[in-house]
Amino acid sequence: MAFEKVFTLDTSSIKFGLGATHEVGHDMKRLGSKRVMVVTDPNLVRGEPVSIALDALRREGIEAVVFDAVRIEPTDVSFKEGIRFAAEGRFDGYVAVGGGSSIDTAKAANLYATYPADFLTYVNPPIGKGQPIPGRLRPMIAVPTTAGTGSETTGVAIFDLLEMHAKTGIAHRALRPDMGIVDPNNTRTLPRMAAACTGLDVLSHALESYTALPFNKRQAPEHVSLRPAYQGANPISDIWATRAIEIVSKNLPRALKDPSDDEARAQMMLAATFAGIGFGNAGVHLAHAMSYPVSGMARSYVPEGYPRGRPLIPHGMAVILNAPAVFRYTASVNPERHLNAAKLMGVDTSNVKPEDAGEILADAIIDLMRQSRIPSGLSAVGFGPDDAEKLVAGTVSQHRLTKISPRPVDEASLKELFLNAMSYW
Ligand SMILES: [Fe+2]
Repeated sequence: MAFEKVFTLDTSSIKFGLGATHEVGHDMKRLGSKRVMVVTDPNLVRGEPVSIALDALRREGIEAVVFDAVRIEPTDVSFKEGIRFAAEGRFDGYVAVGGGSSIDTAKAANLYATYPADFLTYVNPPIGKGQPIPGRLRPMIAVPTTAGTGSETTGVAIFDLLEMHAKTGIAHRALRPDMGIVDPNNTRTLPRMAAACTGLDVLSHALESYTALPFNKRQAPEHVSLRPAYQGANPISDIWATRAIEIVSKNLPRALKDPSDDEARAQMMLAATFAGIGFGNAGVHLAHAMSYPVSGMARSYVPEGYPRGRPLIPHGMAVILNAPAVFRYTASVNPERHLNAAKLMGVDTSNVKPEDAGEILADAIIDLMRQSRIPSGLSAVGFGPDDAEKLVAGTVSQHRLTKISPRPVDEASLKELFLNAMSYW
């Protein structure tokens, strides 16, 4: 087997700063669009970020048509609604204003309206056919309203495939938005638990991409066009990931304590973007792979501050609930990286043994989870040991992620990981 020798760094261009949303019309015009689909969700559609974006587009003479039927944690059905709207609307550009759900829906709408195909054509294997996207998509700008997914910088769109009860996605460089407009004003009204979950998602993006299998330990692709977006840890992604770990650890507790702390909120948005650049190229591994069945199998849990009636385990919560168990497991293959991550989180690692690296990093994550008032493990969101096998079944299909785990997993080790994630305190 030949190992990979090459890695790439792709990212969207980024515009950052208070009030940057006012510039979306200028940037969309510069990209050549005259009639754009503005993709958002029903909660945000009457909010300030959307109205500012619409004004900015219309001020530049761009026709802006709103699609507000994004589902939080989107599904193939909700993606298809966006795709139909896009295909009928004959748009020549896309603006997403919202969290990862809105940004991912806009990516899918742009893709299938530009290159119509059977829905599974571009979906990740083994669930879909995983065909490469044939060419460039129409211009797209993402305006995130959470400090979390980093979706404005990545070529990934995640959804639930309802008939299979599986979370999967579409991943290709061509899906990456042309630009991310990252405006800290847009997270001012983010509810506390949403800020906690998205902030911890950022932390895990950074920790997973920093500890992923190194790119040069991955098998080389048969053809350059088949090199995956998730290439494994590499020297450029490491820079973005390590900085993001530091920023989140310092600023998440502050931003949660006082949502009017503009500086802490701005730092969290910066960290989300940094981590997005890192993991968009290195990838994420087990905490994310395991999060998809956790979110997909939500039965009755509704987080504090979320609308009653629909069980939901937000993406970031599902991820971080697995993280301590995952890093306890992966630390033995690269204790230095795990210890350095703990150090970046503020732990004094001057007198510790490499064999304690997993425990030390897990403790640092648990400390931040407790400060963020995250449930104490999978059992606190409705799972028990009897669910472990089903959770494993939903994880093994996430090839794209499990194969860049630094330490290989099989069904037995994944089961152990889920059991170890049931309760942390
Ligand atoms: Fe994530």
